[in-house]
Amino acid sequence: MGINYSKFIKEKIVEIKKIVKDKKALVATSGGVDSVTCAFLAHRALGENLIILFLDDGLMRENEAKEVSKIFIEKNIELQVWDVQKNFFDALKGKVDPEEKRKSFREVFYKTLNQAVKSYSADFLIQGTIAADIIETQKGIKTQHNVLSQIGINPALFGLKIIEPLKELYKDEVRKVAKKLGVPKKIYLRQPFPGPGLATRIIGEVTPERVEKVRMATSIVESELNNPKIFQAFPVLFNDKATGIIDEKRMLGDIISIRIVESKNALTAKPYKIPWPKLEKIRDKILKKVPGVVKVVYDITPKPPSTIEYV
Ligand code: XMP
Repeated sequence: MGINYSKFIKEKIVEIKKIVKDKKALVATSGGVDSVTCAFLAHRALGENLIILFLDDGLMRENEAKEVSKIFIEKNIELQVWDVQKNFFDALKGKVDPEEKRKSFREVFYKTLNQAVKSYSADFLIQGTIAADIIETQKGIKTQHNVLSQIGINPALFGLKIIEPLKELYKDEVRKVAKKLGVPKKIYLRQPFPGPGLATRIIGEVTPERVEKVRMATSIVESELNNPKIFQAFPVLFNDKATGIIDEKRMLGDIISIRIVESKNALTAKPYKIPWPKLEKIRDKILKKVPGVVKVVYDITPKPPSTIEYV
């Protein structure tokens, strides 16, 4: 039996109202499908008693803060924006191990959220955690940034009471809820973008300069691909360097991998058979526009054994 989405929305609204009562709740949105859907749903339940916060952590895609603001302005919903880039870069400085990077990200993320909850006098934090996040964390595949209970973090330690209204749903189901809630199409059809943002697309240290390279390459990949068959398409910056020719000199430069996958729910994925001319176009743009890149490679690995992201 499929899900009755109207019923699901009604029930969740009642549930959220019952928990929060006349108190305040805060939801952080990254502009991704899950967190925007969660914000729209919670806004229906709580109206003015919901604070919607966009944390500009410096790891977002090009123009993300502006684009996310637009979505909420169009619906007459207020959005708070905090520039916390320095906190995140300071926390990630010198970290190269993927799990260590994830942990640092998560710590500064929840510390910042805790500050926000306090500064807006909210009592609850509403999160867009979905079923796949929980399953993968339980299996020990990765420590998803938002699944606190399964990674030994007691949210109470951060002073947070958490509500996760989408936790039974998979990505394709969240998109259906989003559509019913009036979330703009460009958001609910958007590719998933991980909480730790471009940090999951950088092997090795996450510095503002390296993030900028991946951000530029991400804009190029996204501008060339708009195919509903594609679940996710993105570039990844390697830590290793390769020999290349820059300004007619032999020198070491960066390696960028392009990852394009088809998937239904992110639990498995297969590489997308991208037409060669399209791939060449992406390669040429990256080589021309992203400084210091000497190699562009295409990733043909399925999940498993690979994961979708690299970190
Ligand atoms: P992996 O790389 O584990 O990713 O195959 C499966 C799906 O989850 C996304 N992902 C994350 N999303 N916080 C998120 O919100 C995270 O920490 C995180 N790690 C991976 C990934 O983009 C893919 O869609």
